[in-house]
Amino acid sequence: MTHEGVTRRDFVATASGAAVAGLLPGRAGAAGRRRYAIVGTGVRGIGMWGRPLVEKYGDVLEFVGLCDVNPLRVAYAKKAMGADCPTFTSLDEMLDQAKPELLMVTTVDATHEGCIVKALERGVDVLTEKPMVIDETQCQSILDAEKRTGRKIGVTFNYRYAPKHRKIKEILQSGEIGKITSVDFSWYLDTSHGADYFRRWHRLREKSGSLWVHKSTHHFDLVNWWLDADPVEVSAFGSLQNYGKRGPFRHTHCRPCPHKTQCSFYWDITKRPSDVALYVDCEKADGYLRDGCVFKEDVNIPDTMNAVVRYSNEVTMSYSVNTFMPVEGYRLAFNGTKGRLEVRDYERQPWPAPEETEMHVIKNFGERTKVEIPKAEGGHGGGDDVLRDLIFRNISLPEYMRLPGSRAGAMSCLTGIAARKSMDSDRPAKIADLVKL
Ligand SMILES: NC(=O)c1ccc[n+]([C@@H]2O[C@H](COP(=O)([O-])OP(=O)(O)OC[C@H]3O[C@@H](n4cnc5c(N)ncnc54)[C@H](O)[C@@H]3O)[C@@H](O)[C@H]2O)c1
Repeated sequence: MTHEGVTRRDFVATASGAAVAGLLPGRAGAAGRRRYAIVGTGVRGIGMWGRPLVEKYGDVLEFVGLCDVNPLRVAYAKKAMGADCPTFTSLDEMLDQAKPELLMVTTVDATHEGCIVKALERGVDVLTEKPMVIDETQCQSILDAEKRTGRKIGVTFNYRYAPKHRKIKEILQSGEIGKITSVDFSWYLDTSHGADYFRRWHRLREKSGSLWVHKSTHHFDLVNWWLDADPVEVSAFGSLQNYGKRGPFRHTHCRPCPHKTQCSFYWDITKRPSDVALYVDCEKADGYLRDGCVFKEDVNIPDTMNAVVRYSNEVTMSYSVNTFMPVEGYRLAFNGTKGRLEVRDYERQPWPAPEETEMHVIKNFGERTKVEIPKAEGGHGGGDDVLRDLIFRNISLPEYMRLPGSRAGAMSCLTGIAARKSMDSDRPAKIADLVKL
């Protein structure tokens, strides 16, 4: 038994890398194709799991339904994807009438759980975008539903599939820097991408679980996977320093704002026709303002976050997220008994970075060696295409690159949920107190 009451065998049996086998290819649909539907037809549903699949995977997938609570958005999405299938505003109706075999969940984070459980209960396998859940009650509900129904959940952690992240996994697995003892991980969101979270539904904890969950789930999943370990305990701090009520002035959204000429965060949504079609033209159905003011009083998530995480294999991590930086990217280091792996990722900065990712292995009493990283093409550091091919074409990848399942989805979210609890309570929070696995 570990001190948290979770056996090592539990960890191993359902390790962070626990993968989903058999989600695809599965039972054959019409003409041997899998019956596929999407719930939540916003930018991610269309751009990652809609249009590219209509264009490139028609031989293995049959689109049978698209669903969104906003009738205008789902109508636009169908056109934008080029899909030829019915649209719905009720998930129950889509599941009952369109009878998908596989449902992709790309709704607002807080609603993933409801959609996932409904699908599982009808015998439908599920792919879900991160974060799988936003709190521990939702997490328990999904884990229980998966066990009860015997259906499968795959969580689309695209970051794992970026060549640079795979390279890190391979170096750590090789033992080159010895046993890992600690991790330093600082993530920087800039005044463009970082600010965008505070314009959208993400600024509300009840919708996104805060960036501890919405954003950090990516980072926590990577670390769980890299270390092949589970988080055990989290101590965290967070505060709102720049956005929301900390701003100098505010309005509802950017378009009619009287402060637009003074505001560095002014953003003109009308510049991109696809944003107008997807959001502005659909406002009359649900009142959602995609260009919301970053200084709105209702922002209830921190913009500055620090945590220390302790893992099941004695590793500790110092982690931070800052959301209004002049740079976008991260600094990451693994400290081991034989040396250190150092990574600096430059996604955007006001100077020309020599390369997107700098990676070095530095040996104790030895030398520094530059790590060459295979060139990445496409979205999210090259991960998106590999992930789609893995899921829909079943391409051959090593065991550690298989599609993560609900266990990984849970563990990454629970790290953020524990951080949020620790921040709120000023006390460390234990993962084992949150759900029964
Ligand atoms: N893996 C990644 O890198 C990545 C990138 C972007 C977004 N995402 C995830 O994708 C999801 C969607 O994000 P987005 O940027 O497309 O947001 P979005 O706001 O563009 O779209 C969300 C859509 O869900 C709809 N919706 C909300 N509740 C619903 C419900 N109960 N039933 C049906 N539809 C509902 C909304 O009307 C909207 O059209 C989020 O969970 C987000 O975390 C992941």
